Amino acid sequence: MRQKTLVQLTGKQTQLIVELGDYAEILYWGIDVGDGVERSRLALSRPVPYGRLDDDVPMTLLPELGRGVFSSPGLEGHRDGQHWAPVFVITQIEKNKDNIVIESEDVTAGVHLKTELKLDEHDVLQTRSTLTNIRAGVYQVNRFANTLPLPVRVNELMTYYGRWVHEFQTVRQPLLQGGYQQENRRGRTSHEHYPALVAGTSHFDEMNGEVWGFHFAWSGNHRLRVDVKADGRRYMQAEVIYFPGEIALKEGESLTTPWLYASYSHSGLNGMSHHFHSHVRDAILSKSFRDKPRPIHLNTWEGIYFDHNPEYIMSMATQAAEMGVERFIIDDGWFKGRNGDKAGLGDWFLCPSKYPNGLQPIVEHVNQLGMEFGLWFEPEMININSDLFRAHPEWLLAIDGYEQPTGRNQYVINLQNEEAFNFLFERLDYFLSTYNIAYIKWDMNREVVQPAHLGQASAYNQTLRYYELVDKVRFKHPQVEIESCAAGGGRIDFEVLKRTHRFWASDNNDALERQTIQRGMSYFFPPEVMGSHIGSSHCHSTRRRHSIEFRGLTALFGHMGIELDPVKETKSEKKGFERYIKLHKLLRPLLHSGRTWRVPSDDQAHQIHVVVANDQSEAVAMIAQLAMPTNSLSGQLRVPGLAPQGLYRVFLLDKPSNYDDIVNYQPLWTESGCEVSGLWCEEVGLTMPILDPETAILVKFERMD
Ligand code: DGJ
Repeated sequence: MRQKTLVQLTGKQTQLIVELGDYAEILYWGIDVGDGVERSRLALSRPVPYGRLDDDVPMTLLPELGRGVFSSPGLEGHRDGQHWAPVFVITQIEKNKDNIVIESEDVTAGVHLKTELKLDEHDVLQTRSTLTNIRAGVYQVNRFANTLPLPVRVNELMTYYGRWVHEFQTVRQPLLQGGYQQENRRGRTSHEHYPALVAGTSHFDEMNGEVWGFHFAWSGNHRLRVDVKADGRRYMQAEVIYFPGEIALKEGESLTTPWLYASYSHSGLNGMSHHFHSHVRDAILSKSFRDKPRPIHLNTWEGIYFDHNPEYIMSMATQAAEMGVERFIIDDGWFKGRNGDKAGLGDWFLCPSKYPNGLQPIVEHVNQLGMEFGLWFEPEMININSDLFRAHPEWLLAIDGYEQPTGRNQYVINLQNEEAFNFLFERLDYFLSTYNIAYIKWDMNREVVQPAHLGQASAYNQTLRYYELVDKVRFKHPQVEIESCAAGGGRIDFEVLKRTHRFWASDNNDALERQTIQRGMSYFFPPEVMGSHIGSSHCHSTRRRHSIEFRGLTALFGHMGIELDPVKETKSEKKGFERYIKLHKLLRPLLHSGRTWRVPSDDQAHQIHVVVANDQSEAVAMIAQLAMPTNSLSGQLRVPGLAPQGLYRVFLLDKPSNYDDIVNYQPLWTESGCEVSGLWCEEVGLTMPILDPETAILVKFERMD
């Protein structure tokens, strides 16, 4: 028996206490209670009731059946049917300032385990494990999970669901006996099962309650669970779903789990988001792009779809530049055979009939207008109707002998096929080396149904190869920015973000729907990585109509862009685009560096989104009226996060065109502005105006002293 020791990691507000003996057990993960940990250990000793095993059974970092932990094991595997319930014993511990690395071994099974725990200054905890087969022969892995404990007082969850054009929907549910489980088998991060959840104490909300947020950084199949054990203890587990036979480790080979990111907050969901946003900004986003203002986009997709004409596209670019756009992107439809969504994928050669003079004149035109140029790709996909498929039907990701359904008329390419991988790299490299391309939109429009390589399951490797392809492109073209898109928000997670710069949050540009989608995304991602575009007044995915003011304000709070054909728009619409582009540029430094607050409102029909500057010198609040005001008066706008003793000038920065016509009169402060303290803003607030459904206002706070 190894002597037990306690080690701890601390963040700004968080403390993690781990007991290490033969195994590792997290004893505490919550608010920092200071030192004296050794002295207090006894306070946590557990009773051993009748009717169960005779000794206390710890919830270890890797639950093991062999130690009597009846929970979902951290590792399930075997060596030819033997050694299927491994038990690891710690052999080495390395404790550094912000991390602990624990090495363990099961000598009988011939496997070695390394578990890493890291707690950073933003209070984000990271964990992952690596399993190595240290014995001759193959060790087959069925499951390998990251496990973190939760306190018994955790009894509510916020989880995600969704679908195409309806991403990041959140739902609250009680955490009951048995617990919660979500499984994603769609081969990409997915719209349906975004790999994150929040567990917390009763009625936790945006401002109050204790919450433990989790994000599993993996862009493929996964399982998340929160278990309530029969004895009442709780834990969270996140793992890749490996298909049968997928992971077979030969002697000396290793398997590492993706990182599980987690954060504790004692001030509700906003506190949790502040931790994740700071961590993303500091540790995930690539440093070289962090300080570059996010350029305003015009993306051609909803403007022209597959109907490409170089002269027309150049006129779109001219008008985009006049409106203040900073990056012009040609979306789908530019390559050989791509006249609709039934053909062409895989043929990454410029379409000679659509672009008889090549791409260069357009790139030059865009650059001369002072804009960056971007181009759309969907590298992992292939249409049966393509030269590529005719030449290489064997490149399909498929199980021989079976038919598989298409998705958007297309199939997936097997990235484990070296030739296919090299072909795709060569094509991307060709375009990035030939033209001045600053940005690519990397799309993925179908799910993965038969992930097999040489007959064996390979969903896990397909995801790894996708990362490799992006990495290879980035290594050769480090100046190019990449947007991760998968039919909108189907591939949004921290692991992708390490190698990309922006997410296309949804194909739904309906401002009302976007309010909910963007809110759901805001729990884990800061606004500067969330692509949010002003679409045309008649939304293509919902057929609803919204004013330019509502569309403009909704798009303002992300990485802004325009998704329409400016040539066909009316003068007044264009004026509107110009206005919101200008406003975004003005507020961009604040929006993309400040602290986001989702603010509760007195009226359930409101959604309030606030960003406060880190030095508390200014803030901006969007109040969106999602539905009919509940009462004839709408209560108060209370804004947290300002300097309590600071004096602020508060004024309306933007309002709907009918703002003054729908009431006898609106609150006076919205006409003349007013001066109030930060404490007043937080505790007393400002009276809300009356708004029509599906409209919004923007309020600015500027510190005067
Ligand atoms: C799906 C994306 O989400 C859209 O923005 C667009 O790029 C289309 N694919 C193009 O096929």
